[in-house]
Amino acid sequence: MSKTAWVLGGGSGIGAALVKELVARGWTVAISGRRTEPLQALAESHDARPYRLDVTDFDAVKDTVKQIAADIGKIDLVVFSVAAWEVTKPGTYDYESFRRIIDTNLLGAMRVIDPVVAQMRKQGFGEIALVASVAGYFGLPRSAAYSSGKSAMITLAETMRTELASDNISVRIVCPGFVKTDLTAKNDFPMPFLMEADKAGKRIADGLLNSKRFEIAFPTRFVLLLKLIGLMPYPIFFAIMKRLIARK
Ligand SMILES: NC(=O)c1ccc[n+]([C@@H]2O[C@H](COP(=O)([O-])OP(=O)(O)OC[C@H]3O[C@@H](n4cnc5c(N)ncnc54)[C@H](OP(=O)(O)O)[C@@H]3O)[C@@H](O)[C@H]2O)c1
Repeated sequence: MSKTAWVLGGGSGIGAALVKELVARGWTVAISGRRTEPLQALAESHDARPYRLDVTDFDAVKDTVKQIAADIGKIDLVVFSVAAWEVTKPGTYDYESFRRIIDTNLLGAMRVIDPVVAQMRKQGFGEIALVASVAGYFGLPRSAAYSSGKSAMITLAETMRTELASDNISVRIVCPGFVKTDLTAKNDFPMPFLMEADKAGKRIADGLLNSKRFEIAFPTRFVLLLKLIGLMPYPIFFAIMKRLIARK
């Protein structure tokens, strides 16, 4: 019996690139997103199974988990590759924008995790990979909601990894740097080490399938640089941030 995955956000960008990798490696893959067309296109080109879903609708998420488990028998792997991103002017903290981003990126993940953990406990095994970002390593300027939501997602995954090990459920975090997708097409600032989505999809598939490590992060040089900045004493850290915010 082939391995089965559910990739949320699987219709585009990093999620779609991962779906193509998984299908090429023999997996049966269910994909979700709000728009029907990209899901349908990937279903036709790569034999993925589309389930239209908005992660802000908890009842729909619970129904979809049941439906996928019934259709494909078990869910070995769930990848949450969903996000809302809005370019934010430094010094603005618009509540509605914050609510939209957190509701999709963080609470959206929680709406999925709750029924998925129940399903995986029933099966007796499973793996959950949350796509966060290097933007979650520390509070980045120009992305208060996105960066703090991704930071919370990393913390959440750390807690879950510890707590769910005894249930035979493995939890991982994926932290990409800049990847060329619809999401980053909105950006009006420099994006160092920008990577193609297909390459990101391969890095994630290799990390998930060929290792058991908690964090899958890339590109390596950018990740190491950011981790080093995160370790700096605050006076140095804020001096770096000040230079970053001055760049355009
Ligand atoms: N691109 C980067 O540089 C980068 C870097 C670090 C981390 N990431 C993370 O990588 C993940 C994928 O992003 P991406 O760059 O591949 O951008 P993307 O192509 O825009 O992917 C985001 C996906 O989320 C889905 N989505 C958004 N809101 C949704 C909702 N309410 N319900 C269900 N699905 C929803 C979108 O599909 P629909 O619009 O059809 O719903 C889309 O397929 C995100 O978690 C992002 O934060 C990206």
